[in-house]
Amino acid sequence: MVSTSSKSLRYEDLVRNIINCNKCPLHKFRKKPVPGEGPLDTSIMIIGEAPGRYEDEMGRPFVGPAGKLLDYLLSLAELKREEVYITNVVKCRPPRNRDPRPEEIESCLPYLVEQIDIIKPRLIIALGRISGKTLYELMGRKWRGMKAEHGVIIKGKLGDLDLTLIPTYHPAAALYKPDIKKILEKDFSTTIKEEVKKIKSNKVNVRRKNLLDFINQ
Ligand code: URA
Repeated sequence: MVSTSSKSLRYEDLVRNIINCNKCPLHKFRKKPVPGEGPLDTSIMIIGEAPGRYEDEMGRPFVGPAGKLLDYLLSLAELKREEVYITNVVKCRPPRNRDPRPEEIESCLPYLVEQIDIIKPRLIIALGRISGKTLYELMGRKWRGMKAEHGVIIKGKLGDLDLTLIPTYHPAAALYKPDIKKILEKDFSTTIKEEVKKIKSNKVNVRRKNLLDFINQ
């Protein structure tokens, strides 16, 4: 078992590396890098694409209008923001919010892989095409596009880690498209909510078993 302090030391080191990163040209345009935030002992990670204007100003993920919508979507799955770790594939804002380029994704990817290895989530919710495709590739799967993949439960391995991945649309895409918002509401209130429920009840059962083992020692 990894101790909490070695986990947080590793995480602090990672955040320091992200903050000082100049591996790709995006560092020249950023105001603040956005490593991610949330509890390190969570079982659930939310992974977006890249910081936008508000995130770049604050150094925090999903704090603009898409973040407000994300909070609402999380509530449909009976989740609070404080219960999940939120980050992005790319940690610095691309100019004018353009898509991150493949070489930018590639140079930033070790940070995401390290975050996943530190947190060891059981469920990852990938928001948007870039996040979905990146995670599919990390899990050795072929991405068939969001229309086909959204709301699909993928069980697989990422490195040594067994996990469930659910890709869905990016909340920013839903801000001006009511049909996308409806799909997101459905994904969060059905598939995602059910997976969250399973994870939460499993956590309670593990805690109960540990307590019984302790009492029966
Ligand atoms: N869009 C993202 O993908 N991530 C953010 O943090 C904000 C907007």
